[in-house]
Amino acid sequence: MSELNATAELLELEKRGLQELQALTDEPALRAWHTKYFGDKGEMAGALRKVGTLPPTERKGYGQEANRIKQVLTDAYDQALAKAKENALLASLSESPLDVSLPGRPTRHGRVHIATRIMREIYGIFSDMGFQIHRTREVEDDLNNFEYLNMPPHHPARDMWDTFHTTTPGVLLRTHTSPGQIHVMREFCPQPIRAVLPGMCYRYEAITTRSEIQFQQVEGLVIGPNVTMADLKGTITAFARRLFGQERQIRIRSSYFPFTEPSIEVDIDWPKEDPNADRLTKGTGWLEIMGAGMVHPTVLRNGGYDPDQVSGFAFGMGPQRITMLKYAIDDIREFWKNDLRFLQQF
Ligand code: DAH
Repeated sequence: MSELNATAELLELEKRGLQELQALTDEPALRAWHTKYFGDKGEMAGALRKVGTLPPTERKGYGQEANRIKQVLTDAYDQALAKAKENALLASLSESPLDVSLPGRPTRHGRVHIATRIMREIYGIFSDMGFQIHRTREVEDDLNNFEYLNMPPHHPARDMWDTFHTTTPGVLLRTHTSPGQIHVMREFCPQPIRAVLPGMCYRYEAITTRSEIQFQQVEGLVIGPNVTMADLKGTITAFARRLFGQERQIRIRSSYFPFTEPSIEVDIDWPKEDPNADRLTKGTGWLEIMGAGMVHPTVLRNGGYDPDQVSGFAFGMGPQRITMLKYAIDDIREFWKNDLRFLQQF
């Protein structure tokens, strides 16, 4: 074949390709066109294969022309495709118009659970006073939960804590965070201690609006030379005022816990302006927020300390109870129900 004929065929190909392309408006048809001209067995490939049939001197000119045409067809195809896509979009918009004035779908922001928030608030207050935070185990043994806390087997004070026992004798779910006192004492003895021990506790009790079988506690423990009841009082007052307000008063009543001597319970005054005040305080104006006391010498000894050298105070409170007071929540079961209507209020 001579170059003249071959080139004429190329030009013919260009013309045909462009003409066919012009008639097409939708994407599938355009893609079919592309396969016809640029597929592996397409027209362009066929034209390029002809180079081999030409005399060597003519190959270069033919090749250049073929490349030019390839470029022209490709550009035309790209344009036509872009146009077809745009038309399809415009058509779909006019068929089912977008109402840009419709309100968007609300995105819900996650938030920290109220129980976690109050814990963090409590940690913050005690950290400012130089306390460290320690976590100890929730599955405890009888020794730490009771015996080392000055409650030998059959001690009647054990009745204060209804206990979940496991099938392994002597292994139970901790009924309070107080066993953590023994763990930190044994870990840090003979150093002084200033720590809060937060965590979940479990009690085998009827679930009511005021008691749950699972709840958090925050235990406090301070041990060192010359730690006194005045330190306990000062610490608790500072804590209560940071949490509830600087003008609040606390009241201390004598009480009994096996692991402290003397033992106290701490009340906070409740503002008379609060319409719930009378109901909450049963007319007394005071609400209990924690148990506390000076660490019993036996407990100090069980932790490895010498009660003649050091003394200490401890306290334990239920942050759920405190949250209920702070936000006037009247049902403790709300804390673990995962009801968004409740959780989103905080
Ligand atoms: N563990 C006690 C309870 O669960 C609370 C408590 C009272 C903790 C006095 C203490 C304390 O550390 O000194 O009822």
